[in-house]
Amino acid sequence: MQVVKYVFQPHGDDRGQLVALEENKDIPFKIKRVYYMYDTGEGVTRGHHAHKHLEQILICIHGRCKIRLNNGHETKVVPLEKPYEGLYVANNMWREMFDFSPDAVLMVLASELYDESDYIRNYDDFLKFVKQQEDK
Ligand code: TYD
Repeated sequence: MQVVKYVFQPHGDDRGQLVALEENKDIPFKIKRVYYMYDTGEGVTRGHHAHKHLEQILICIHGRCKIRLNNGHETKVVPLEKPYEGLYVANNMWREMFDFSPDAVLMVLASELYDESDYIRNYDDFLKFVKQQEDK
């Protein structure tokens, strides 16, 4: 299973760092939505779903967290600890976010507006979805 982690180029100078992200350039899709999580409680795991279409880039812009990706066959855990790293998460990945540091801010750039009907929230439905995609 391939994990696609982007390392963005910071524009650093003696004042500090700045990262700029442009759709279809630094980010491999048109950005329609941005959301972020903060004040995540200790021991909390979020996510537990996949998507039919949505693509995302996850950036832990402050603090640390971990992302567990599962493509229906394999699972990988990816730590996000740098504000210049972005994890690409395709639609057909079951994802869980966990191990948030108290100061973590996890920002998500998304290719679609919020649409509950795009979510696959049941794990058995996810496995069926993966099989359907593979049988195509
Ligand atoms: P939820 O799907 O539970 O978040 P996660 O998958 O990260 O655990 O979303 C929490 C709430 O926020 C839920 O009521 C739906 C709402 N929400 C929006 O209104 N817009 C969004 O873009 C997202 C991601 C969630």
